[in-house]
Amino acid sequence: MLVLGIETSCDETGLAVYDTSRGLLAHALHSQVAMHSVYGGVVPELASRHHVTNLIPVLAEALRGAGAGLDGVDAVAVTRGPGLVGALLCGLQLGKALAFARGLPLVGVNHLEAHLTAVFLHDGEAGPVPDFPHLALLVSGGHTALIRAEDFGRYRLLGATRDDAAGECFDKVAKMVGLGYPGGIVIDRLAREGNPHAVNFPRALPRRTDLDFSFSGLKTAVASHLRKAGTPAGQGLADLCASVQQAVVDVLVRKTRVALRQTGLRHLVLAGGVAANSRLRADLLAMATEEGVTLHVPPPQRCTDNAAMVAAAGFHHLQRGERAGLDLNAVANLPLPT
Ligand code: KG4
Ligand code: ZN
Repeated sequence: MLVLGIETSCDETGLAVYDTSRGLLAHALHSQVAMHSVYGGVVPELASRHHVTNLIPVLAEALRGAGAGLDGVDAVAVTRGPGLVGALLCGLQLGKALAFARGLPLVGVNHLEAHLTAVFLHDGEAGPVPDFPHLALLVSGGHTALIRAEDFGRYRLLGATRDDAAGECFDKVAKMVGLGYPGGIVIDRLAREGNPHAVNFPRALPRRTDLDFSFSGLKTAVASHLRKAGTPAGQGLADLCASVQQAVVDVLVRKTRVALRQTGLRHLVLAGGVAANSRLRADLLAMATEEGVTLHVPPPQRCTDNAAMVAAAGFHHLQRGERAGLDLNAVANLPLPT
């Protein structure tokens, strides 16, 4: 069965062709990052307009890569939320048009569940996948959460950020020091040359046993450090990036360890755009090894937004016989299914 995945929740136009027995056949992605970076963040109307012009060429590229035509597609999976409503509607309209014209089954996908499903994707040879139930740390530009995954379509939120998401914190710090948008990947790169102990930034909620996060204090601490010390360059900038990154990673790892001990779960999944961060991947693996827990992390290119994970998540819902009607709509704040 060939599932076509469509992702337009934010500023990436993604299309993927997923063969449920052979794995991912092709995926194509058009990133709008360069355009939005001029404004220091995503401009929703521009995102929608660019999805409208890019969706068909990206679809053609994905089909070409898969060596398939539209007549080879058996089902359509499309992100319906959470995300920017205008952007989501672009992908939804394409999905519905294809389903209507070709009489195909259609399924709406939760973008957060798609991130959590990225570890189940394979390019041909299926590798080890996490057992259910497992613990998931979901870290992206809009979300930071610890989740107990019972099964596909069944999740329990154990803790979440009370203010900024981890990715948002990286992006805001990057903006403060003139590194552009989005900043997570640039901070990751510069931090490799820096000293993570150069500046001792606060770690929020350190003694608490609850599983919530807070990153707004760190953002304020960086702003006040910059006011006093000035904006660094060269080695100083690398040291600042490494120190901020370590503060974020320490909190994420510490809370995940608490969650593993509280739940007794033996499999851990790391997902979302920030899961591409090299320090987070390394420190979480070290912690998981200490705790005797198996860590599952998608390759970095599958951590950030893409349509392959949407097709994979959609497949599991299609397999259960779930079908969306042609009245399927976008939901900006769609929660994970429970
Ligand atoms: O999952 P994603 O692509 O979009 C959302 O659903 O939000 O996540 C985007 C976030 C951005 O905040 C970006 O700065 C961050 O992921 N990010 C990273 C890295 N790559 C992307 N943060 C830290 N290190 C990275 N290597
Ligand atoms: Zn995302």
